[in-house]
Amino acid sequence: MGFVIAVDGPAASGKGTIAVKLGALYGYPVLDSGLLYRAVGVKVLERGQDLGDPAAALAAAATLDPAELERPEVRTRRAGEAASRVAVYPAVRDALRDFQLDFAAREPGAVIDGRDIGTVIAPHAPAKLYVTATPETRAQRRWKQLTGQGEAVSFEDILADIRVRDERDSARADSPMTMAADAVLLDTTEMTIDAAFDAARRIVETARSRWETARG
Ligand code: CDP
Repeated sequence: MGFVIAVDGPAASGKGTIAVKLGALYGYPVLDSGLLYRAVGVKVLERGQDLGDPAAALAAAATLDPAELERPEVRTRRAGEAASRVAVYPAVRDALRDFQLDFAAREPGAVIDGRDIGTVIAPHAPAKLYVTATPETRAQRRWKQLTGQGEAVSFEDILADIRVRDERDSARADSPMTMAADAVLLDTTEMTIDAAFDAARRIVETARSRWETARG
């Protein structure tokens, strides 16, 4: 495995922005694993199927084409909700695993953001961050992002979405919201994007020195 940087955390914590900036800094490809779940959710909806039907979700996951991750439809509020509904099915998570494992195997390194990257997808990743912030701060960021994309939605509705999503993502025994024991917690509640990236960069640099020393 190359230098994999796992960036996990709850909805709208800023993990995506941090992942993209780390990718640019090191010149590594970046995978937003949430897009996989979003694309599956969107596909189920577009096929007129029920998000409560695990077989429909599995069929959508099994036939997922990476090009589907690029569609603007996967960035909407509706897609985020649909993603968290299909993400609870273990068969869907299994179907999306190989794509993520292949990405994690890229040399000389890769950045992947999600929920279970440091625990399930790349438990041996040399650098792991768990990015979080209060629900109110996360809702504020998500509201700005969605209204910036032209979605008409209230802050209260987004805060309610975030709370439901946190609950759904952490309800299961094998919750994808569990922080890896060796991840470094980064609470960005009081941080600007620049400050959060700076803190993330320092954490990753420390992990990189350790990794290079261990490799000899
Ligand atoms: O940024 P936000 O959390 O809204 O969205 P996302 O990262 O695109 O993830 C959308 C949903 O997909 C999450 O609420 C999770 O239910 C699910 N997800 C997951 O289960 N595992 C991942 N590695 C990534 C996302």
